[in-house]
Formats: sequence, structure tokens, C-alpha cells
Amino acid sequence: MDRTVYSGAEGFVVNYKTLWEPLLFNELQGRLKGPKLLERGNDAAAFSLSGFEAVAEEIHREDFVFLQHIHPYMFMGEIKGEASDFPIFLNMLEKVAGYVDKEDVVVCQCRIVAKRMLSYTNGELTSELSAFLEREEYKVSAQKADTVVSLTVFDRFAYLGVSRAEDNVSRRAGGVLFYSESEDMICRAEFKIEEAFEVFGIQVKEGMKALDLGAAPGGWTHYLNKKGIRVDAVDPAALDDALLEQPNVRHYRMTAQEFARIHGEDTYDLIVNDMKMDTNQSMDILCEMSRLLEKNGECLMTLKLPKEGVQKRINVVRKVLGERFGTVRIRQLYYNRSEATVYVKNKL
Ligand SMILES: C[S@@+](CC[C@H](N)C(=O)[O-])C[C@H]1O[C@@H](n2cnc3c(N)ncnc32)[C@H](O)[C@@H]1O
Repeated sequence: MDRTVYSGAEGFVVNYKTLWEPLLFNELQGRLKGPKLLERGNDAAAFSLSGFEAVAEEIHREDFVFLQHIHPYMFMGEIKGEASDFPIFLNMLEKVAGYVDKEDVVVCQCRIVAKRMLSYTNGELTSELSAFLEREEYKVSAQKADTVVSLTVFDRFAYLGVSRAEDNVSRRAGGVLFYSESEDMICRAEFKIEEAFEVFGIQVKEGMKALDLGAAPGGWTHYLNKKGIRVDAVDPAALDDALLEQPNVRHYRMTAQEFARIHGEDTYDLIVNDMKMDTNQSMDILCEMSRLLEKNGECLMTLKLPKEGVQKRINVVRKVLGERFGTVRIRQLYYNRSEATVYVKNKL
């Protein structure tokens, strides 16, 4: 499926966290040409806007900080919330399937975001739509899919469209993640760094070295160490005992500022910073530490979002880090709470 199909889109559906809805809507209104809000559901909204090419381009140009998932829709149908809706869905699917090549590998992602109870489930919708595509001899595989047929069901209407997987922001339906807890996990912060690796495409290389600022109790260090990365962990607080036995983990029990003063010649491919402190101070420390970053090295930083002035803070971070580093990306990740994650990459 190529992107020319997007010219037939009538609008798009977005998923987000309700807390950040006003900020996402501002981002959408500010960066896209005249999207019109049609319907809102649980953590989701549908907008009308002709064509999806410009939206896909804009997504790849710069992240929408508060967007978890997006899909275009080519067809919408009024629904009742009962089994009698299925022919409506299949009718829309039949038309959209015409845009998909038999060579494409397709997945169906169905999500009910209605605020009322409907008489069917996400799973039933997905099975029904997938079975239809299989009968029509399309290749259907969730793991290998490059093309996504998305159906989102609101209270009044359902919206169905097709897109390339990389244009949906997340490969998971609605951007909802289900990372499973491992037995040796130190804390849930590990999910946050795992998601950041996935979202920002951080690649693990042979002999990789990382500096973890604000490392205690050690979730991020644990994640990095499990990936085979050597970690210098800096925090005045204690690290989990299990980490102290690891030959590739060194704990510097001191503040990041003290570490900067005593630090020798070591350089790092990755610097991560989850320190609990004022944003400006945290950015200053990251900029100072970046002298230890290899060319092409990458950094992650947790950005606390204030109760007011969130957009202003994001703009400041983009500006300050943008002057020091080549690339700056900011996303409010699924596993972030009242914070976002900043990714920067050193200039070559
Ligand atoms: C949210 S916790 C980090 C959690 C950690 N990423 C994990 O996965 O376990 C924040 C940490 O920042 C540390 N911190 C605060 N100020 C610091 C400083 N100036 N230098 C180093 N660490 C600092 C605190 O001691 C605390 O352990």
C-alpha cells in the first residue's frame, strides 16, 4: 500500500491521555490545517480533515508530544452498538480492502472508545474483520504487518481506515502497551526506559557504555545491564543489592554534580537522566555531562510536567537542548505519568 491512498482519507482518530487532551488539541490545531472535532470518546477523539498525507508528514517532521496513536479513516458509519452494526463494519472494510495490495501484510486493530456499553467487544470486532480479510486472501499477521486496518468505535459513529504501520505513531492499537513484569524487575520505572528505547529507536551495540544519573533504586540500570550495556550508576541513594553484584555496574554513591568533578576520561554512548530535580538544573547537568558523550551518542531525560505552563516548559527544553544537541525529541510516553521523556542525539 502506498501513501497515495491517503488522499481518500476524510479525517483521523487520535488516542491520548485525557489529562493532556487540551494540550494535544492545541498541538493538532496549531500544526494541521483546520481539523474539525467530530466526536470524543474514552481517551480518543475523531477529527475531520481531508487527506492524510500532510498529517503523516507532520508526524515524521516532529513528534506530537501528547499523541499516543493516530489512524486515518476513509469511511465512517452510524452505529447502534448492537450486533446489527457488523454488516456496517464489513461494508466499510470491503471498500477499504480495495486500497490494500495482496502483497501487503495486514493487521486489524479495533478499539471501542464509546462511553456507553456496547454489545460487542474489541476482540470480537478484530476476529470478525481479520476473518473477512483472510477469506479474501489477504496476508494477515499481527507480528509482521506493514499495513494496518484500524476501526475505532465511538458512541455515535465508527471510523475505519488503512495506513502504513509507521504512520500510526504506535504499532499497538490505541497506543496501549502491555509490558509484562519480570521476576527480577527492580521497579516499574523499567517500563519507562524500555518504552523509550522502542519509541526513539535506540540500538544496543557491542561494548556499549552508559551513564545513569539519578539511578536509585536501579530500575533503569537493571534494564541497561540486562541489554549487555556497561553502566556507571550515579546516585547518593542506595542501589538494589542485586545490581551491586553485577560486574558491569559501578555505583558512584554521590550526586551528579560531585561525579562531574571527580570524573576521569571515560566516555559514554548513552547518558540517561531520571533525576528528581528542577528542570533547568537537570538540563544544565545534562549539558555539562554531554562532554562525556561519544559523537553520535544519545541521551534520555525525564521531564517533569508542571501543573501550569506545560507548553512553555516544553518550548524551553526544545530550545536549550536544541542549541547543544543536534536532535531533540519529546514524547509523553504511555508509561510516563505527570512527566514526558526527552531524547537527544549528539551532533556528528
Ligand atoms: C525517580 S528516582 C530514579 C529512579 C531510577 N531511574 C530507577 O529506575 O530506579 C530519582 C532519583 O534521583 C536522585 N537524585 C536527585 N538529585 C540527584 C543529584 N543531584 N544527583 C544524583 N541523583 C540525584 C534521587 O536520589 C532519586 O534516587
